[in-house]
Amino acid sequence: MANVKFYAGESFPLEMHKVRIIQKLNLIPVEERGKAIAGAGNNTFLLNNRDVFMDMLTDSGVNAMSDRQLASMMKADDSYAGSETFTRLDKSVKHFFGCKYFLPAHQGRACENILSQTFVKPGFVVPMNYHFTTAKALITVNGGTVEELIIDEGLKIRSECPFKGDIDTGRLKEVIKRYGADKVAYVRMEAGTNLVGGQPFSLANYEEVSKICRSARIPLVLDASLLADNLYFNKRREERCKKMTLHEIVLKFAELSDIIYFSARKLGFARGGGICTNDHDIFLRLRELVPLFEGFLTYGGMSVREMEAIAVGLDETLDEDMISQGPIFIDYMVKELDKRGIPVITPPGGLGCHVDAMAFLDHIPQEQYPAGALGSAYFIASGIRGMERGTLSEQRDPDGKEHFSNMELLRLALPRRVFTLSQVNYAIDRLVWLYENRRLVEGLRFVEEPRILRFFFGRLEPVSGWQGKLIEKFRKDFGDSL
Ligand code: F0G
Repeated sequence: MANVKFYAGESFPLEMHKVRIIQKLNLIPVEERGKAIAGAGNNTFLLNNRDVFMDMLTDSGVNAMSDRQLASMMKADDSYAGSETFTRLDKSVKHFFGCKYFLPAHQGRACENILSQTFVKPGFVVPMNYHFTTAKALITVNGGTVEELIIDEGLKIRSECPFKGDIDTGRLKEVIKRYGADKVAYVRMEAGTNLVGGQPFSLANYEEVSKICRSARIPLVLDASLLADNLYFNKRREERCKKMTLHEIVLKFAELSDIIYFSARKLGFARGGGICTNDHDIFLRLRELVPLFEGFLTYGGMSVREMEAIAVGLDETLDEDMISQGPIFIDYMVKELDKRGIPVITPPGGLGCHVDAMAFLDHIPQEQYPAGALGSAYFIASGIRGMERGTLSEQRDPDGKEHFSNMELLRLALPRRVFTLSQVNYAIDRLVWLYENRRLVEGLRFVEEPRILRFFFGRLEPVSGWQGKLIEKFRKDFGDSL
């Protein structure tokens, strides 16, 4: 974001864009919010958007587009095979990553499906800095296991470490030795590591990982879904990157990778995805699955309009003004909450603000899902929906035992360029109120628990009548305010 100093000395996030289209929001009264969350089985995924004031569920597919993106959508060329739109997207992706081959897919997990089906076999392992829900589910469904090798600092809630997404390279070498290189399907590095708070890895760490993979002849896969945030932090926090352009940093990451995949619901500010490589054999192996699961090679399940928007979105990702609004707003929100004693992940990362539910609701045992309970309580307090990123988002162990998450987080995503600073201040205010009233909040238990990715559509109920008490207290403190 531009270097603008304020005369008064304070520093605020300053957007380098203006808003030209708006969508009206709806804030329903607290009693209605209580009914809505109960109707949704206390699962914020099951809320209807009409009942939601600020949708901080995710940054996926809900980022604001630019005027250039919208304009490009109008010239989309619709054709099953060989559309001009695909030619433009293909060119844009290849320029962005400096790669030879590109395969389109309808979203990030579709790429994960293709990669897992191609490389993962029973008994194989995929070492990674940290898992993402769909990546892990698709690896385990194909009989593989995941080894999470993030540095110890990555799992600390409070830290000064600028690159908490780095992998522990010593442990990586040990895992490769333990399983044998032929049992390592690939090494997966996730940019802007989602589940530990949108934390980046450094270029230096990635270089080391690439060296280890190349000497063991193991493919290195970069999940570039959250690369825009990672890039911003490389540029800001890594000395050698300060002198590089954003594009030079991307090209360096690409050169060190064997395969790159991305969700264009995040990278490129639109909806879609794709896989890139320079390796002809890998390209041929992956290509077989695209028409089977996604669609023909010139659309891969995406609409032509979205493909046009991604092509422009990737170009705009190389402009620091265009990608900095997210990290700068998150920085503001995290620091304001931290000042008020609210437990949040530090340093601020990308994607969103992550509240530590284990500390916020330290009276709720992990088997009663503190992060899920916090998500439900926060919706009642504010009409804002966040996303549980804790034990609910894990899968049970094969023997049915609960697999406790390393962290219990309520993720409040900041879709890029969507919210204003006053809305962020509202989100902070309601969280402060909830923190002061946290002892009123109690846990949740399942009433309906799906076997796979249960957080998406599982239903829960409160273990007691705590939600009624929270609503009563809200009325007492806020009077007739919404
Ligand atoms: N990789 C990362 C790092 C992600 O954050 C996501 C999605 C995916 C892969 C899968 O991509 O949704 O296009 O299939 N993250 C979303 C989120 C769902 O809310 O964090 P997808």
